[in-house]
Amino acid sequence: MDERKQLIAALPKAELHIHIEGSLEPELMFALAQRNGITLPYADVAAIRSAYQFDCLQDFLDLYYQGMSVLVRQQDFHDLTWAYLLRCKAGNVVHTEIFFDPQGHTGRGVAFATAFEGIWSALQQGKKELGITSRVIMCFLRHLDEHAAFATLEEARPFLHRITGVGLDSSEVGHPPRNFCRVFERAAELGLKRVAHAGEEGPPEYVHEALHGLEVDRIDHGNRSLEDDALVAELAERQIPLTVCPQSNLRLAVIRDMAHHPIRQMLQAGLHATVNSDDPAYFGGYINDNFNALVDAVNLSRDEIIQLVMNSFSASFLDAHAKQRHLDEVQRVATA
Ligand code: ADE
Ligand code: ZN
Repeated sequence: MDERKQLIAALPKAELHIHIEGSLEPELMFALAQRNGITLPYADVAAIRSAYQFDCLQDFLDLYYQGMSVLVRQQDFHDLTWAYLLRCKAGNVVHTEIFFDPQGHTGRGVAFATAFEGIWSALQQGKKELGITSRVIMCFLRHLDEHAAFATLEEARPFLHRITGVGLDSSEVGHPPRNFCRVFERAAELGLKRVAHAGEEGPPEYVHEALHGLEVDRIDHGNRSLEDDALVAELAERQIPLTVCPQSNLRLAVIRDMAHHPIRQMLQAGLHATVNSDDPAYFGGYINDNFNALVDAVNLSRDEIIQLVMNSFSASFLDAHAKQRHLDEVQRVATA
């Protein structure tokens, strides 16, 4: 194996952009559908996989929301999260900050608590049995309105001591961050971190709005920031992390091909970029697969790999002590 791929596998990593519902592999989707008496519009697992051909974000989101319909009971959310954590273990992801979409569940009659407690119990088990630390970020669906986001924040109140932050996801174009300024302001008052998907399909202005209207701590994706030099300068100056997802970018036609992925351009511009899987079950790979794809397509160097992995910890919501411990371990493995 390429020495760089060995390094990628060996390095401890943090994942900062993973929708837990997007880690639902077709095999588990089928098993849960059967368990819950739900009929999927596919004959078998192969048919599901062959349906995963997307021309744009919305094509994917339609299947993503359909897929999550098999998640009904608390145990389903637990099993989903546990399966992801086993992937983390296998790939040496030692810290993960997962998104979940409460409105994707409450909107079809599954209680917030059912989803949250199932996810949470698996994360606790992951800490105990696998040594993986985690944070939970609840996302607002931006194709729904501000009122619905406020109602979701209200529903989350009993759980907020276990929720690190809020995010913004779903259909980007036509649903600008500015629509959610007030609910993000409320989240800030409640002591929550803030992140938002921006500049995936949407224009650089959406990244600007996320920074200045939502006052986010990180930008999810952020690819289209590169179209605006002043924005790049600000992101670099403030070291705002970008949680970049190469295979997602490829599968959702954000980039023409992997050779055109802007990861090197981001690093050379001084941006605090990280590599993540987004929705690994839909886009064909977990975090190491994303790094490996960059090695193959843009000849990602050893130094770039180490930088991106260090960035994953420094951009995390871990405390300073834990960050340093992980950064020391990255250095130790890198120089071993
Ligand atoms: N929800 C799950 N994955 C997403 C993505 N890549 N962009 C926006 N919303 C999402
Ligand atoms: Zn995402």
